[in-house]
Amino acid sequence: MSWTEIAPVASLPEGRGVRVEVGSHRIAVFRLADEVYALGDRCSHAEASLSEGPLFDGCVECPRHGAEFDLRTGQPASLPASKPVPVYPTRVDDGVLFLDLETTA
Ligand code: FES
Repeated sequence: MSWTEIAPVASLPEGRGVRVEVGSHRIAVFRLADEVYALGDRCSHAEASLSEGPLFDGCVECPRHGAEFDLRTGQPASLPASKPVPVYPTRVDDGVLFLDLETTA
């Protein structure tokens, strides 16, 4: 794994997404209490930005057509999306978020 420093966790908004761009990666980062999740920020249906979607029960809802994606797995939980989005491994070290941009699930 190759970890890239992103930001202090305390600087991330809680309960909603934020877009992070690193090189060619466009990532939707979500902080829920002590957990941080990172998904590809392009909906697998028609590429809307998932970082702009609301969160429900461990999922983010695509703001364009309403497909839901599991924050842990990136798998779609509802139509119209039928393919997963990438999930980036996260690590918090001394209050700072790191992402592994080379390994996606
Ligand atoms: S663009 Fe996300 S559900 Fe259509």
